[in-house]
Amino acid sequence: MPLVNTTEMFKKAYEGGYAIGAFNVNNMEIVQGITEAAKEVNAPLILQVSSGARKYANHTYLMKLIEAAIIETNLPIAVHLDHGDSFELCKSCIDGGFTSVMIDGSHLPFEENIALTKKVVEYAHAHGVTVEGELGRLAGVEDDINVSAEESSYTRPEEVEEFVSRTGVDSLAIAIGTSHGAYKFTGEPKLRFDILEEIERRLPGFPIVLHGASSVIPEYVDTINKYGGNMPGARGVPEDMLRKAASMAVCKINIDSDLRLAMTATVRKVFAENPSEFDPRKYLGPAREEIKKLVKHKLINVLGCAGKA
Ligand code: G3H
Ligand code: 13P
Ligand code: ZN
Repeated sequence: MPLVNTTEMFKKAYEGGYAIGAFNVNNMEIVQGITEAAKEVNAPLILQVSSGARKYANHTYLMKLIEAAIIETNLPIAVHLDHGDSFELCKSCIDGGFTSVMIDGSHLPFEENIALTKKVVEYAHAHGVTVEGELGRLAGVEDDINVSAEESSYTRPEEVEEFVSRTGVDSLAIAIGTSHGAYKFTGEPKLRFDILEEIERRLPGFPIVLHGASSVIPEYVDTINKYGGNMPGARGVPEDMLRKAASMAVCKINIDSDLRLAMTATVRKVFAENPSEFDPRKYLGPAREEIKKLVKHKLINVLGCAGKA
């Protein structure tokens, strides 16, 4: 099975009422943990690489790791650029074998976002690569942010049809109240499903992407805090909200922070229990196992994509 783009997986996900997990990768143990989990439950996958991860691990190393995962799993896997910030970066990833890219022009004025996204789409589509665009900016949602500032960061449903038709994007990332990182909510977690519903109504059958979708699993935060860490108030998106989004138009759910937490909690625990440990396999091995356990849980219980490969 060669690498795939996201067209087929999103079509099936939309029709089936589930979402594909898009997991961020930057080293071998993360790639192995995720792909071994997907193999065990027969799930399609998106492995995504941020610009920082690509700098850290090197494009070729990451591609070769993902190619190895394809050989080992025989699953449909897309390799995706996460938060591409320029045409040049998208082009370099496309030329280097990525099958999907995100061009994130969400910080730009509407017309500039359209122009940049359209340019990436033209190049990508000529190479069989799918493109994710973004409208609206993810907020660091805080209870004390005044409503108009809060509202202004959400995706404006009245812009989505024009953006999609003028750019030709294959999927659209939207902002409905999630945020990146481990500190998503200070008060009650709240997502604007009304905005998602309105976007779904305006773009029937069109795949929507949810960023900032880690649940910030409390057990990991507790373990980190127990063994010398300091993450008070870390809080993520409740899993039932993610399941609801996956049953709607959301076809891709982005998860990075939960992987980081799983890995860090495990490594901290190993060192706390064995302060003299110095064999990397003894802490990276258990970290890889924890990632596998976490991803299996997400694929089966949160995304609903187990058995859909
Ligand atoms: O959306 C951001 C992802 O979590 C990637 O983070 O740029 O630190 O690799 P990063
Ligand atoms: P989290 O920080 O919630 O894992 O979000 C990851 C993400 O959106 C990557 O693009
Ligand atoms: Zn993101």
